[in-house]
Amino acid sequence: MQNFTFYSPTYFMFGKDTENRAGELVKRFGGSKVLIVYGGGSVVRSGLLDRVKKSLEAEDLSFLELGGVKPNPRSGLVYEGIDLSKKESVDFVLAVGGGSTIDTSKAIAAGVLYDGNFWDFYSGKRIEKALPVGTILTIAAAGSEGSPDSVITNENGMYKRGASGDAIRPRFSILNPALTQTLPPYQTAAGITDILAHLHERYLTNTKDVEVTDRLIEGLMLTMIHEAPRVIADPDNYEARANIMWAGMMAHNNSCGVGRTQDWNSHNIEHELSALYDCAHGAGLAVTMPAVFKYVYKHDVMRFAKLAVRVWGCQMDFDDPEATALAGIRALENFLRSIGMPLTFAEIGAKEEDIPKLVQTLCYGDGRKGSISGFVTLNEEDCTNIYRLML
Ligand code: NZQ
Ligand code: ZN
Repeated sequence: MQNFTFYSPTYFMFGKDTENRAGELVKRFGGSKVLIVYGGGSVVRSGLLDRVKKSLEAEDLSFLELGGVKPNPRSGLVYEGIDLSKKESVDFVLAVGGGSTIDTSKAIAAGVLYDGNFWDFYSGKRIEKALPVGTILTIAAAGSEGSPDSVITNENGMYKRGASGDAIRPRFSILNPALTQTLPPYQTAAGITDILAHLHERYLTNTKDVEVTDRLIEGLMLTMIHEAPRVIADPDNYEARANIMWAGMMAHNNSCGVGRTQDWNSHNIEHELSALYDCAHGAGLAVTMPAVFKYVYKHDVMRFAKLAVRVWGCQMDFDDPEATALAGIRALENFLRSIGMPLTFAEIGAKEEDIPKLVQTLCYGDGRKGSISGFVTLNEEDCTNIYRLML
């Protein structure tokens, strides 16, 4: 196991009706003037936004609102939020929504305390300070409620990049599984896929002897495989929603990724797809992951075979471990299909003729030098071949 530090100071409040305690938590974590950030309207329609505002009013907190965050959130609204927060002397950013809303809130929180262009953080500069951020999560997916990351699409070129820093880990996150019951089935499935991707991207490591994190990841994957069909069949299944919601947090706050190298090639390859075609991030990952895995599994056949046996219940073929590894990847594909996810380029509106453009931005955008690295290093030719596997 490699040396590591792990600092995850987010205060989680989990369960039914917990959104009504938002005001109390904002106060506890030092907020007095709050910017409430939300998306395209689901929190207005469900009445959640009103409940949150009431809870802030009950604590005599003043607030203003910034709605309109789009999935695959754009840089434009971040600039708007930074200007507004500076003008109004906001001291706390409260995200009410999914990963896109939370990531926009984190970007605003970092940008307010920075003199330069906030995009510097998305071009490699680490975030060292930010206004405090709180979240009220409405979809189990990105894991941003517990992560030190934020992902934004630059409208000047439509490419997506991430920024990181413990300063943008939420001070608190409210997780009420009942809030996810209004999700359309496709979004529920996309969220499940994203959670599985966060687990796979940590499982694919070159570090030896990391049994504790391997086993945590396997446990979380098994949970997702068990709960996903239950929630797809019955969207109001609170217990299944609850298990998925906590697994989504665990999958991405890095408690199961410490002390090991991680992959993230699938995420990087996917980010070009959701930036260009505006597909759901999880749907893009459903198309991307099997292609990447088929391309790289020979790098460590036994790691893929272990996953196939321990998680997908495949029989180990000691004479032909490659067959076991491939059976595991096929089981993943079948699972993704069974929850309604796409597996091909066409299904997410991606086009074969765009592959050179996708590869160019992927391998050269924002200071990259012709390749991306993770479980294996992938050059332009590899990335082209991987996109072609998705056709
Ligand atoms: O905008 P509204 O109207 O709220 O609708 C949203 C949106 O259309 C809807 N939705 C959310 N909760 C709902 C609901 N509809 C009905 N009922 C509810 N309870 O779902 C749609 C998707 O929302 P979004 O916030 O985009 O989803 P998600 O949480 O999957 O976030 C995806 C974004 O997170 C980034 C992705 O790249 C993508 O941009 N990621 C962020 C990470 C991080 N910060 O750590 C890591 C991830 O790997 C990921 O890259
Ligand atoms: Zn993701």
